Amino acid sequence: MKRIGVLISGRGSNLQALIDAQRAGELGGGEIVIVVSNVETAPGIERARQAGIPAVFRDHRGRKREEYDAEIVSLLKARDVGVVCLAGFMRLLSPVFVSAFPNRILNVHPALLPAFAGLDAQQQAFAHGVKVSGATVHIVDENLDSGTIVAQEAVPVFDTDDVETLTQRILASEHRIYPKAVRILLSDRYRIEGRRFIIGDGAA
Ligand code: GRF
Repeated sequence: MKRIGVLISGRGSNLQALIDAQRAGELGGGEIVIVVSNVETAPGIERARQAGIPAVFRDHRGRKREEYDAEIVSLLKARDVGVVCLAGFMRLLSPVFVSAFPNRILNVHPALLPAFAGLDAQQQAFAHGVKVSGATVHIVDENLDSGTIVAQEAVPVFDTDDVETLTQRILASEHRIYPKAVRILLSDRYRIEGRRFIIGDGAA
């Protein structure tokens, strides 16, 4: 099932990277069929529309998490979505959501997990003084930034960096590895052993 739904809350540069990869024939045959935002003013909504992809806003405020998630799941299922990509979607998914797409939800995180989970990962890494950080694409489970790691890319942290320059370097990595991880998932040429995601021949 190669129909993809992308969930966003903001800028949408990772969404753009996925759109660009699809256009270039580098998304493993994946097709982004819907974009959902929980923020009405998210610039990513416009990016989707520019690309001719239906984009909808669904407000989460004042709603129970499970009820909201069930609505998003219905939206996605109604469009036959098989893979969900979180791209700057600033909400934890409930078991209702995760169990609707087992091992078919990906997220991109701006650090080398399991280091620096949670918010402001680039700031956390910078403040900790690490010499290397990077980006991670992982399968989403019910816990924060904890699922099986599909792809990672490391970037150096230079003495001359500030949080902004580090963030930009990591973002470039995110844009490289997210389409790659989607390709691998869609190829179905992988297996999961414990915490390890093992990629088969010819998958990437
Ligand atoms: C990215 O840094 C991503 O890793 C994090 O949120 C940011 C989203 O950026 N989860 P964008 O909306 O894709 O530009």
